[in-house]
Amino acid sequence: MENNKREEWGTKLGLVLVLAGNAIGLGNFLRFPVQAAENGGGAFMLPYFISLIFLGIPLMWVELTIGRFGGNRGHGSMPGMFYSMWNNRWSKYIGILGIFTPLIIVIYYTYIESWTLAFSFFSLTGKYFGAESRESMGAFLKGFQGVQSNNYFSSIMPAIIFYLITLAINVYILSKGVSKGIERLANIAMPLLLIMATALAIRVLAFGTPDPANPENNITAGLGFIWNPDFSQLTNSTVWLAASGQIFFTLSLGMGAIATYASYMKKDDDVATTGIATAGTNEFAEVVLGGTIAIPAAVAFFGLVGAQEIAKGGAFDLGFQSLPAIFQKIPLGQFFGFIWFLLLFFAALTSSVALTQPAMAFLQEEFRIPKERAAIIVGLVIFICSIPVVFFLKHGFLDELDYWAGTFGPVLCAFLETIIFVWLFGMAKGWEEINRGATTRIPKVFFYIIKYITPAFLFTILATWFYQSAIDVLLMKNIDPSNRPYVWGARLMMLAIFIGLAYLVRKSWRMKEQNPPHLSPEGGGLG
Ligand code: TRP
Repeated sequence: MENNKREEWGTKLGLVLVLAGNAIGLGNFLRFPVQAAENGGGAFMLPYFISLIFLGIPLMWVELTIGRFGGNRGHGSMPGMFYSMWNNRWSKYIGILGIFTPLIIVIYYTYIESWTLAFSFFSLTGKYFGAESRESMGAFLKGFQGVQSNNYFSSIMPAIIFYLITLAINVYILSKGVSKGIERLANIAMPLLLIMATALAIRVLAFGTPDPANPENNITAGLGFIWNPDFSQLTNSTVWLAASGQIFFTLSLGMGAIATYASYMKKDDDVATTGIATAGTNEFAEVVLGGTIAIPAAVAFFGLVGAQEIAKGGAFDLGFQSLPAIFQKIPLGQFFGFIWFLLLFFAALTSSVALTQPAMAFLQEEFRIPKERAAIIVGLVIFICSIPVVFFLKHGFLDELDYWAGTFGPVLCAFLETIIFVWLFGMAKGWEEINRGATTRIPKVFFYIIKYITPAFLFTILATWFYQSAIDVLLMKNIDPSNRPYVWGARLMMLAIFIGLAYLVRKSWRMKEQNPPHLSPEGGGLG
């Protein structure tokens, strides 16, 4: 059967570009600066780099290895991967997290992605020029989102149209498959993105001191805010949670998306080097480019206090309100606004296809559905589930999905995945598997880091969460009572999706038991 031959990435450079495209997203340019500013700038960076070394890089290697291992056995999604590593009836159900989490994220991520496309268009046409203050840019954004009707927008229609265009682009790329769709996109979008981000970072550095009357508001103060280390916060658990959470989010870890991409690697492709190249490229885009654009620009124009206040408003205030307000004050502002939002769009697009691919691989491999049809099915599911995200935005529907899938889920999934890898698959076998095909073997300390430190770190994060926030979050203590029904709605929707996936996993395994493929699970599909 033609389906038994799995797709593969075309080239080695393509492999690094798709993985970088997977990891580099809105998280690098919007979420990182906000997290850093909210958590005290220099106080954030130390836990951030410690998390990178003890969580980010080890988990990147583990997920690439799990993915390559599962892919070689015909599985591109986590239920099948876990099953091939741990032959137990529960392993496939744990693997549901590796389809569920990215699917929930993509339901709201694609909508935000469509705002970036819309705003790059509005920059070119100059539509928001005239909304010169942060406040009027805020009104412009709210009008666009349909949260508030005002003289900028009379309905939510433009937002819906841009959303449908964005979703259609995603479905189209996914329907073309791994190397002709995703890899081609990355080959074009990633170099362009890096060029645009570099140009913007240089432009921001050239702001210097924009207002001579307020000399303390300048770029150096902005950079110093992020880069002067502050050791006093090292014992603050909130900062640790935020920093480790950002590492997960930005590297796309703990949700199966990296593993799914790795499943299209060749049998002896180099996991060790690919992992470092991916993490390195992502960190360059995050701390160097992402760290130089939004926060220093906001400090230069609105001062240190102003920038921190903006950051409190979340990722959207900084990217969609403050920066457009700044672009209106500089020469060629329309052009720079266009670049900023187009760069966000490319970053988001290469991530949203990555978020959808686990569900695609699941349908293609466990149900033998051709990729064109799988793309349409997943696209429809995303569309239907995103309707409440679009219409209940102001009631916190999006935030609830983001909390569970973007913040909590990855830590849980990564913990279970490490346990399976280290204890059930076995660390000795795992270590051989990680290093197989590596041009340079990974230093032996990482054997111990992966075996002991990473799981202990993850366990500590989970335990702290249970202790500090579980009850308040579950009972919605911090949520406005009038929004609670919507938040319950969001939880019900997630539950329904999870149960639906569990049903599908059960069904596909039953089908295989009754009707076993010609090839054994070991070496299946590799021809
Ligand atoms: N890493 C992406 C970003 O920085 C977001 C993300 C999280 C993601 N998990 C993912 C992207 C899984 C693709 C796949 O924006």
